[in-house]
Amino acid sequence: MSNRDFDLLLSASIRNGGLSQEQIARILEFKLFGNPSGYLLLDGTAIGEIPSTPASRSELRKPDDTSERLLLQATALLGEPIGYVQESGGAIVNNFFPQQMQSRAATSDSFDTELDLHTENAFHAIQPDYLLLLCLRQDPAAEAITYIASVDRILERLSYEQQAFLLNEPYNFFSDYGASEKNQRIDINKHQTVLYGDPDAPFFRFDPHFMVAYSERAQRALDTLRGVAWEVVEPVRLSRGDLLIIDNRRTAHARSPFTAHFDGNDRWMQRTFATCNLRFYTERLGKASRIFELVTEL
Ligand SMILES: [Fe+2]
Repeated sequence: MSNRDFDLLLSASIRNGGLSQEQIARILEFKLFGNPSGYLLLDGTAIGEIPSTPASRSELRKPDDTSERLLLQATALLGEPIGYVQESGGAIVNNFFPQQMQSRAATSDSFDTELDLHTENAFHAIQPDYLLLLCLRQDPAAEAITYIASVDRILERLSYEQQAFLLNEPYNFFSDYGASEKNQRIDINKHQTVLYGDPDAPFFRFDPHFMVAYSERAQRALDTLRGVAWEVVEPVRLSRGDLLIIDNRRTAHARSPFTAHFDGNDRWMQRTFATCNLRFYTERLGKASRIFELVTEL
């Protein structure tokens, strides 16, 4: 989709996205005040006509754009919609469904990359502030569960010393972005702490499979944190029309495995990212864009 076509769709979404006043209020409340769970679930939104789940990206056709408008209206309430070159070729609305060809490769489309708790793009200097997941079709066996662990819940279970350690100890966050694709493991010299920002109400970034500890103590702290995060997760089972909004600076998320049959009835999700700092990024990068390549420093 060209930039102009996207802007037209975004404009139509803002004017006619389908969210009720009450839903708009809940999204703005969540943005401005947050909540201890780190996520907001709007259930049963109107998403229009959903064709059979495609078997591959090349078969993706979706004439009714009701779901895209709803998702983009919600995204625009939270910030600016952004995309990444390495995620679905820079598309702002990403479609996820099982693909037979890729079922064993570890990409966003496969069944198993999302299985452990992680913050989205924790290594990236332009991290999404929010991640929005709209369920177009639940998997027929309703096996898929999304898990969310919030920093508020995690901190309740960590001692002052453990919190101080995670505020001060840098880990090396590897990138999973190559030149054009995901699923790499690249050292980009990105040393950063797990907790950051205001020590009394810190932000949180976490991706244990892509983090390297500098000491045994740091590795133990990471293992402990991973265990605690799994202890406090809240499970969410998404069905048709459910919109899940995740605060990506205060949570980690994961998904359970689920079965795919490649018969048109498989699970189908749409996803967007929102940032609250686009003008700052434009200033630092000297370029205005919604679509980013790998940015390691600003
Ligand atoms: Fe994810």
